[in-house]
Amino acid sequence: MESRPAFPPGLLDTLATARHIAVLTGAGISAESGIPTFRDAQTGLWAQYDPQELATPWALRQNPGLVWSWYEWRRSLVRKAKPNPGHRALVELEDLVPHFTLITQNVDGLHQAAGSRHVIELHGNIMRTRCADCGRQVKTWEPPPKGQVPACPHCHGVLRPDVVFFGEPLPSEALEKALEAAIHCDVMLVVGTSAVVEPAASLPRYALQAGASVVEVNPQETPLSPLVHYRLAQPAGHVLPALVQTLKERLARLQGGR
Ligand code: APR
Repeated sequence: MESRPAFPPGLLDTLATARHIAVLTGAGISAESGIPTFRDAQTGLWAQYDPQELATPWALRQNPGLVWSWYEWRRSLVRKAKPNPGHRALVELEDLVPHFTLITQNVDGLHQAAGSRHVIELHGNIMRTRCADCGRQVKTWEPPPKGQVPACPHCHGVLRPDVVFFGEPLPSEALEKALEAAIHCDVMLVVGTSAVVEPAASLPRYALQAGASVVEVNPQETPLSPLVHYRLAQPAGHVLPALVQTLKERLARLQGGR
């Protein structure tokens, strides 16, 4: 059996006594499901493209075919992907604390596929499509002529993935809920994010300012690393299940009075 990682002193007590745990996830939690992250090296076909240049309203206007192809490629990866042990560990964690908030920057829906409830999606969902002009969500559309992009069945505007492009505001209700959780949680787990894209990157900083303990789960250092209370420098799919299992055992002992 694989050995469990040793956790930093104090971490288990901090988690065991927390009333509200908030979790902020990024692309790293889905890496072990086969979905490439954004700032680690891009692989294959799209290696030469910078996501920051494709995921913009400007790119959609200038080169909708290229943007659609890139999103179609990413959708094909998401369709094939399954939740991994990291996603599943967060489903179990939800049941161990009185109040739990899961905030994600990911657009792949894998937290929901794993069974997480009430996921706050800060950056939308790649499997939804909406019209860039009239804003309506669209489920079906006429296949476009070769080389063109699909048009909105209502207003003939340009269809686009229902995700937040660089330079666009985040959905206000999701952002408000995320801020609320950051300010009120006792512990924030920050999993698999480079912590450089705002406003999500500020959420752990708000949590720190409000007095929460912040735990970073990431094999690589990030700008957040020097600020956090605990760092687990291992892949989420390995360390989260071990952490949640150890926490369960700790809580069982506490309830048993030992
Ligand atoms: N477990 C945990 N962390 C991992 C793992 C893993 N198995 N594999 C990689 N990571 C870490 C990397 O070290 C990196 O710090 O995940 C992080 C991924 O960072 P980014 O690619 O920058 O992804 P993210 O932080 O989610 O990006 C934020 O930027 O492009 C936009 O909208 C997109 O939501 C995205 C946002």
